[in-house]
Amino acid sequence: MVTEDCLRRVEEPVPVPAAGEVLLRVLSLSVDPTNRVWMREADSYLPAVEIGEVVRAAGIAQVVESRREGFAPGDLVLGMPGWQDYWLLQGDDLANVVPPGLEINDLLSIYGSTGVTAWFGIEDVCDLQPGEVVVVSGAAGGVGSVAGQLAKIKGAGLVVGIAGSDEKCRWVVDELGFDACINYKAESVPDRLAALCPDGIDVYFDNVGGEILEAVLGNLAVGARIACCGAISTYNADEPVGVRNTDNLIMKRARMQGFLILDYVDQFLDAILGLAPLVAEGRITYATQEVDGLEHAPETLNRLFTGDHTGKLIVKVADPT
Ligand SMILES: NC(=O)c1ccc[n+]([C@@H]2O[C@H](COP(=O)([O-])OP(=O)(O)OC[C@H]3O[C@@H](n4cnc5c(N)ncnc54)[C@H](OP(=O)(O)O)[C@@H]3O)[C@@H](O)[C@H]2O)c1
Repeated sequence: MVTEDCLRRVEEPVPVPAAGEVLLRVLSLSVDPTNRVWMREADSYLPAVEIGEVVRAAGIAQVVESRREGFAPGDLVLGMPGWQDYWLLQGDDLANVVPPGLEINDLLSIYGSTGVTAWFGIEDVCDLQPGEVVVVSGAAGGVGSVAGQLAKIKGAGLVVGIAGSDEKCRWVVDELGFDACINYKAESVPDRLAALCPDGIDVYFDNVGGEILEAVLGNLAVGARIACCGAISTYNADEPVGVRNTDNLIMKRARMQGFLILDYVDQFLDAILGLAPLVAEGRITYATQEVDGLEHAPETLNRLFTGDHTGKLIVKVADPT
């Protein structure tokens, strides 16, 4: 877990933008399990955050002063501001001006990497066919809650969620429309999967890795597909965590495929245009939980690991002007 001694709060003068730079006020930060992955010593799909750097995080910021074409004071910008009050946009930093009129929290949740990851996982990686049996872990979280609903909309025959409390399981079934949900902290996941999916699991949307992945591997149908979206159960581990029963992939002629939302950046708009009518028609429900104050970012990140939240977690840093 990220503890106080991992981080330092630094106060320094607000930077003045040079030619080609933009000064932005940070408004809201996306709290993502990958924030923790970037703090590891090894590089992942992005370089590790170095000691002394600002904690890397996606978010929405508002232009205060611009010395770059395409950015005007007041514009809202989606990018990687990190855990700070002001962001100096430089060089080829990832940054896109957002059209006016959109909810900031929606831009970081259902229309941000959270909803869009669920979209491409289900639409592209899972190769889901009508009537198939789908299991989603992290089912009450940001990505998982949307992925399970998309699987239902695409015609899955049975969608089973896995989550960490009875209350979350009730939300997943009663509000999101999953067919069943296993509380992995109170029930035997292998036994419950065997009972709920007697003919095996066709598609597994994996957000957690570890023991739950093993339980699913032990209950696969022939030709199953596993979309490896995340492995949050391993992100705080000091050593890599092994999965012991990958031989089931052979027995069941199954496929596991990792994917990264960054590979779909060119198609983001397709996902947003696909999700928007489903949201408007009330066919997708999503939850966001906002925590007020940048100083709460570290403990909010840890809530992803304790499970002390439902849906997407966001840290609000300031109001837009
Ligand atoms: N591939 C990509 O491009 C991509 C993009 C975005 C996110 N992701 C991944 O997708 C996953 C979900 O991300 P998210 O942002 O939507 O987070 P989230 O699901 O909203 O939050 C994480 C959830 O994981 C569960 N969890 C924590 N420790 C666990 C453990 N040891 N075993 C089982 N469950 C555990 C907790 O719920 P419980 O109460 O149910 O335990 C927690 O609420 C993460 O693994 C993340 O890295 C991947």
